[in-house]
Amino acid sequence: MKEILKIANLTKKFGGVCAIDNFSVTLEEGTVHGLIGPNGAGKTTIFNTITGIYKPTGGTIEFMGKDITNKKPYQVAQQGIGRTFQNIRLFSQLSVLENVFIAGHMDADYDLFAAILRLNKFGKKEKYLRENCIELLKILGLSDKLNEKAGSLPYGHQRKLEIARALALRPKLLLLDEPAAGMNRDESKELVEFINELKEKFKLTILMVEHHMDVVMSICRRITVLNFGKTIAEGTAKEIQTNKLVREAYLGGEDAAC
Ligand SMILES: Nc1ncnc2c1ncn2[C@@H]1O[C@H](COP(=O)(O)OP(=O)(O)OP(=O)(O)O)[C@@H](O)[C@H]1O
Ligand SMILES: [Mg+2]
Repeated sequence: MKEILKIANLTKKFGGVCAIDNFSVTLEEGTVHGLIGPNGAGKTTIFNTITGIYKPTGGTIEFMGKDITNKKPYQVAQQGIGRTFQNIRLFSQLSVLENVFIAGHMDADYDLFAAILRLNKFGKKEKYLRENCIELLKILGLSDKLNEKAGSLPYGHQRKLEIARALALRPKLLLLDEPAAGMNRDESKELVEFINELKEKFKLTILMVEHHMDVVMSICRRITVLNFGKTIAEGTAKEIQTNKLVREAYLGGEDAAC
């Protein structure tokens, strides 16, 4: 199996708070890897550091054989890493199509001059982008909602639209931050099927943060468990479920220092 993401000794400090402490993980291409841990464990900070929102205090991030440590968010996106956010971040007043269209523009190769003068290159690229976005929304089951305002969609559809935005640049690696948040058991079951379908259709590797254990255990080939920024366990669903340190972290053990 091919490695797609290799994080080594990643550390992120915010003043005196050590949010990520020497974190290492390797993701195999085509798999879903779970990242779990109690609130404040450092899961979202890992996503923000991979995607260039935060600069790491130490460590390296390698994606498809290239060092992407310290790259800017748009460079990380162009390399092939898409993400969703823990708190939905859509342009609520814009339509479903416009939301995906904007995300797809990171890849547009015309300049402002061409856009203002509406040159042929601009027109062709815009048409191509638009068709691509419509196709993507069709695959995600949102094609009958293209012109609806994102903010007026039901919650589950907003979560799907977030995923559509993340897929607009056709990433190889998708980072999902609590995709099942706020969903009931049936909805999260449906989400698992949906994520599996997307993984196959778009040939994705997925790193997923999730608190719903039924989702994590049913979809992830491997799981890493964090507590206070440190990895306390890594393994298959079965190994994680029976791990003593994991049980203690979730049921409340002693505080760990950074
Ligand atoms: N921008 C920031 N400035 C200061 N401290 C931060 C910042 N971002 C995160 N932290 C701190 O880093 C730690 C890890 O936070 P993070 O949001 O990564 O946790 P999490 O595992 O995603 O938690 P949750 O499950 O609640 O989403 C917390 O102590 C948090 O307060
Ligand atoms: Mg978080």
